[in-house]
Amino acid sequence: MTARYVLTGEGFYFVGRFLSVGGVHHGGSVSVRAFILVSATSVSVLFIMAAGSVFRAGLFNHRVAIVTGGATGIGKAITAELLQLGCHVVIASRKSERLEAAADELSQLISSSSSASITALRCNIRQEDEVRNLVASTLRLHGRIDYLVNNGGGQFSSPAANMSVKGWNAVIDTNLTGTFLCCREVYSAWMKDHGGAIVNIIADMWRGFPGMAHTGAARAAVENLTKSLAIEWASSGVRINSVAPGTIFSKTAMENYKELGPVIFQMAVPCIPAKRLGFPEEISPAVCFLLSPAASFISGATLKVDAGQSLYDSVWDIPDHTAWPEPPEGENVGALRDMVKKLKPKL
Ligand SMILES: NC(=O)c1ccc[n+]([C@@H]2O[C@H](COP(=O)([O-])OP(=O)(O)OC[C@H]3O[C@@H](n4cnc5c(N)ncnc54)[C@H](OP(=O)(O)O)[C@@H]3O)[C@@H](O)[C@H]2O)c1
Ligand SMILES: *[C@@H]1O[C@H](CO)[C@@H](O)[C@H](O)[C@H]1NC(C)=O
Ligand SMILES: *[C@@H]1O[C@H](CO)[C@@H](O)[C@H](O)[C@H]1NC(C)=O
Ligand SMILES: *[C@@H]1O[C@H](CO)[C@@H](O)[C@H](O)[C@H]1NC(C)=O
Repeated sequence: MTARYVLTGEGFYFVGRFLSVGGVHHGGSVSVRAFILVSATSVSVLFIMAAGSVFRAGLFNHRVAIVTGGATGIGKAITAELLQLGCHVVIASRKSERLEAAADELSQLISSSSSASITALRCNIRQEDEVRNLVASTLRLHGRIDYLVNNGGGQFSSPAANMSVKGWNAVIDTNLTGTFLCCREVYSAWMKDHGGAIVNIIADMWRGFPGMAHTGAARAAVENLTKSLAIEWASSGVRINSVAPGTIFSKTAMENYKELGPVIFQMAVPCIPAKRLGFPEEISPAVCFLLSPAASFISGATLKVDAGQSLYDSVWDIPDHTAWPEPPEGENVGALRDMVKKLKPKL
């Protein structure tokens, strides 16, 4: 497809193969197709959620985990699987209503014979004092912290040229500093003396992250932070790894992009070798694996869970242009000109 669709929405931009920044909204057939995709995916979501964990029941009995952003999307799937495996889970994010609703919903899935429990604690991971409170409250409640999953993060897309310092800092503060603060607090208050396992959720930023340069920069930094901490904290028995998801569909992830959400997710499909979107329930088992004793010799690693997307096509379109310097003159340039001349009549 060569058509360029131009959409904007409340300061949220996405620029890709089909989308570009501008003032007009022609969604037409694209929105309709996206809509069909979305209805199809909600069927799969139900199916996957019903499938349950592949891990042994009781694997995480009496263990305690903090999952940031644990009320929605990827974080909610991780929370649900940890609960299913017997873990006490503390979910933490900014919006109390969402936290409470998720805690109510997920607590109903805990069987009466299970040792699992779920607690919702409000915390903005950008705020040092709130992170400190989160860790202190978890210790007061459960007396230990075995696992930390740094999953919290917001998102908006914008070409780098249009990013404000405020927008840039918001992403760096949440995605990089927030993860650092949670790691540091959990380490200082508990894992330093007792060990533990940490998983950081990063992203498919292996070829940069055009359209979300701030996110790419923050996530690459978290990947490197993971390596530093794997060494610094090894002598405490702390393992720390990253999981890099591909494009993962959830209602909340889609809503983050407002009316562009369906289009953005639909546009990603051709770039995914699986030719479908991923689901939160496909990220959660990778996280559970890295937390579990099955990963007892794994630290400082990054596990891509993206169906090979990071090895394949990019959604970022580079329009045809003549902005580059001319190549150096010589026999090869001449040979290319001759080739093009011979081809032209056939085109
Ligand atoms: N979906 C994808 O394709 C994809 C791909 C790669 C990576 N990721 C990453 O995976 C993580 C989960 O994303 P998702 O797709 O599941 O989207 P999501 O449902 O929107 O989850 C983001 C979560 O982060 C929480 N959060 C945001 N800012 C926070 C803050 N300052 N302090 C504490 N919590 C905060 C949000 O809760 P509150 O609003 O209540 O704070 C929300 O629960 C994110 O870090 C995202 O960047 C997603
Ligand atoms: C953090 O990075 C993730 C992964 O790219 C992205 O989805 C999310 O929007 C970012 N969060 C913020 C606050 O930038
Ligand atoms: C974004 O930045 C480009 C290049 O600096 C500029 O031409 C364009 O007008 C900007 N768009 C918006 C919506 O600010
Ligand atoms: C992370 O930092 C190390 C040095 O500590 C460097 O060698 C490595 O290339 C960095 N990794 C990435 C992904 O930037």
